[in-house]
Amino acid sequence: MYPNLFSPITVQGLTLKNRITMAPLYLGYAGQGGTVSEMLLDHYRLMAQSGAAMVVVENATVDHPSGSGSNRTLRADTDDNLDGLKHLAAAIKQEGALACLQINHAGRFAHATDRPVAPSAVKTFGRVPYALEKNGIDRIVDKYATAAARAKAAGFDMVELHGGTGYLLAQFLSPRTNQRSDEYGGSLENRQRFALEVLARVKKAVGALPVGYRFLADEWMPDGLQLTESRQFAKSLARTGIAYISVMGGTYESFSLKDVVEKSKQEGYMLDLATAVRTAVDVPIIAAGRFATGSFAERAIAEGKTDLIGLARVLWADPRWPQKVRDGQEGSITHCNPDCGDACMHMVMKGRPAFCVAWPADKMKSWKAKFL
Ligand SMILES: Cc1cc2nc3c(=O)[nH]c(=O)nc-3n(C[C@H](O)[C@H](O)[C@H](O)COP(=O)(O)O)c2cc1C
Repeated sequence: MYPNLFSPITVQGLTLKNRITMAPLYLGYAGQGGTVSEMLLDHYRLMAQSGAAMVVVENATVDHPSGSGSNRTLRADTDDNLDGLKHLAAAIKQEGALACLQINHAGRFAHATDRPVAPSAVKTFGRVPYALEKNGIDRIVDKYATAAARAKAAGFDMVELHGGTGYLLAQFLSPRTNQRSDEYGGSLENRQRFALEVLARVKKAVGALPVGYRFLADEWMPDGLQLTESRQFAKSLARTGIAYISVMGGTYESFSLKDVVEKSKQEGYMLDLATAVRTAVDVPIIAAGRFATGSFAERAIAEGKTDLIGLARVLWADPRWPQKVRDGQEGSITHCNPDCGDACMHMVMKGRPAFCVAWPADKMKSWKAKFL
């Protein structure tokens, strides 16, 4: 069943056993202060047992607190975090999946600080971030490089730069949030400079370790970054030897817009973006966004719309999705419910570990008994 979905693919010398990856999903399972907790380890063991070829671990901060989304954001910013990260990488790899760590600076969406920084002082959700000066930019570029080297030292097979969701890398790309007049602002060439500097420094720091990119193809805002420019940026990433591009759309400022909410309920709602990027570059593409059924995923790969799929809530709602799809038991899949009102997102935004409202009662009961 589904020969394309279950065929291997090699990415810069690493073989993924099938086309299924776990897309990064922050669920508030790290301990306060971003430590690798038992809950986090349990969760990622389960995700790796799913049969997915690669698990991309949720965003880990490169700079705490100024780059951290919250106080439960995983940390990769100091050597104190190294042992925890080693346990995490080992837990995933022991279950037969490749382990990739996503690293991030949240910029104007950093909520572990009341002094957020950004390319420009553009207000968001009631706060005005501080515009970074050149020495601040250089410092953060360094932070990405040392965090990536730490991921490698911890045993991760790949590292992913988080250029999605409107975080710092995306803030520099976006004509809305980057209003600088120096060499980091203005033309696309200037707005992509920060991301390309980060990538170059990270690649230097990790050597042959493959580096992927979570890619914002379209902000879904009238004055935001759109495909015409993001496809150009994808070409720049390809020229620097990016291992893969994992495509997404939207930011915190567009996720709650009415048309975005409606669009996001559909199966494969970001596949068109992934395909638009795939036609611009010769780099493996990951598409995410409600890949609910095996037949849809199989067709997307067979028709050349994407190379790999990324399952985030889909896999969390049912960690046996890959096995059930492979074994013809799709009828028994627990599906992420598009009409739950983004319950998991609301739980994590309140600083609480999330549970999936679609989980069967027995799973919900044992999870709550163990962790709440
Ligand atoms: C609660 C929540 C947390 C997320 N955390 C991350 C993250 O840390 N990094 C990232 O690149 N994307 C993150 N995403 C986006 C997912 O990776 C994915 O693109 C999106 O949820 C669509 O895939 P799905 O329908 O399988 O969930 C998050 C999404 C949600 C709902």
